[in-house]
Amino acid sequence: MLKGKKILLGVTGSIAAYKTATLVRVLTKAGADVRVVLTPSALSFVTPLTLSTLSKHPVHSAYVENEETGEWANHVALGKWADLMVIAPCSANTLSKLVSGECDNLLIAVYLSASCPIMVAPAMDLDMSDHWTTKKNLETLEEKHVRVLPFGEGELASGLTGKGRMMEPEEIFDAIADHFDPRSKLKGKRILITAGPTYEAIDPVRYIGNHSSGKMGFALAQAAADRGADVHLVSGPTHLQHDPMVHRYDVVSAKDMFEKVTTLFKDTDVLIMSAAVADYRPATIAEKKLKKEVVDLAVIELEKTEDILAHCGAIKEKQLLVGFALETDDELAHARRKLENKNLDLLVLNSLRDAGAGFGTDTNKVTFVFPDQVREGELKLKTEVAADILDEIERML
Ligand SMILES: Cc1cc2nc3c(=O)[nH]c(=O)nc-3n(C[C@H](O)[C@H](O)[C@H](O)COP(=O)(O)O)c2cc1C
Repeated sequence: MLKGKKILLGVTGSIAAYKTATLVRVLTKAGADVRVVLTPSALSFVTPLTLSTLSKHPVHSAYVENEETGEWANHVALGKWADLMVIAPCSANTLSKLVSGECDNLLIAVYLSASCPIMVAPAMDLDMSDHWTTKKNLETLEEKHVRVLPFGEGELASGLTGKGRMMEPEEIFDAIADHFDPRSKLKGKRILITAGPTYEAIDPVRYIGNHSSGKMGFALAQAAADRGADVHLVSGPTHLQHDPMVHRYDVVSAKDMFEKVTTLFKDTDVLIMSAAVADYRPATIAEKKLKKEVVDLAVIELEKTEDILAHCGAIKEKQLLVGFALETDDELAHARRKLENKNLDLLVLNSLRDAGAGFGTDTNKVTFVFPDQVREGELKLKTEVAADILDEIERML
């Protein structure tokens, strides 16, 4: 699973250091190439011989490795070598240096030279883990995109019980594996997405349509496929290309879309209706092209189309339902009503009053309306909005 991944393990002076032998073992067993750097304090808790045997590489703990020959550990090369640096256990002392940059040992020099992602598994006693300095330092690391693994809870070396243990080696292993192959909650889920406009025929030549480009729905389909979902895309007329992993069904009218969606809905886990489906269609479709000399085209009688979302909302069992609404006025009130009337789990609201949002553009600005809360987004690329929507769906799943 981790075949060929280069993992640099930093070990500090915590009693939990003895568990790193297991961590090195499970990482190497999974095919990872592991190099270990210890702080001088860590040498009191775990021996270099144990870790070099298990990692099959010499371990490093000092800048100068051989006083007589002047051989030294190249911290820059080590920092640049790694695909991921994991500091486990991370003591309160080292944690503070990761934030301040105080560089008085090899491990910190390697950390400051590393250009790969960093993960830390802090370990300390109850009051140390609860100290405001610890909390602040961990927060700062997270702000700087260092992945902080949570403290484990239970019996501590001091005899106290509570928060402060290092995460178990197997859990750290899972976090590392997840880093290289994120297991999205959408993996294997069947997601049905609708996209684009519908065309409602007047006669064999003319139709009533709308300006939807399909970009939002196609971005969603791509993003969901990237997360390993089994994506089924029902698309109205567009010129967009789809990802080869996506099952695509082309439809033209609201009736076609209704039929395709209701056929697929039963086996679906999540339905995202981002298509701009016509609300009305001509009550009759002329068999031949209507001639303007013969027919008064100024008046076309319309009838309501099938309401796909309302239908699916009424029959849904386990499925999550996500709808889109494009409004021009009194947006939130309309959106809340739609969410409730159609039994949706999330409504993604666009307002045509927002510059850069809506039809044809590559950007969109949406508001997430849930049954219990409303969250306003910023103007983003449609691909980024698609990722945000999928994040929300993963959260709900
Ligand atoms: C028996 C023993 C256990 C310790 N366990 C921890 C610990 O779990 N977490 C911690 O932050 N410090 C612990 N310390 C204190 C650190 O070893 C000490 O702060 C040291 O300076 C850390 O250095 P380093 O961060 O460079 O490895 C322990 C000390 C002793 C003597």
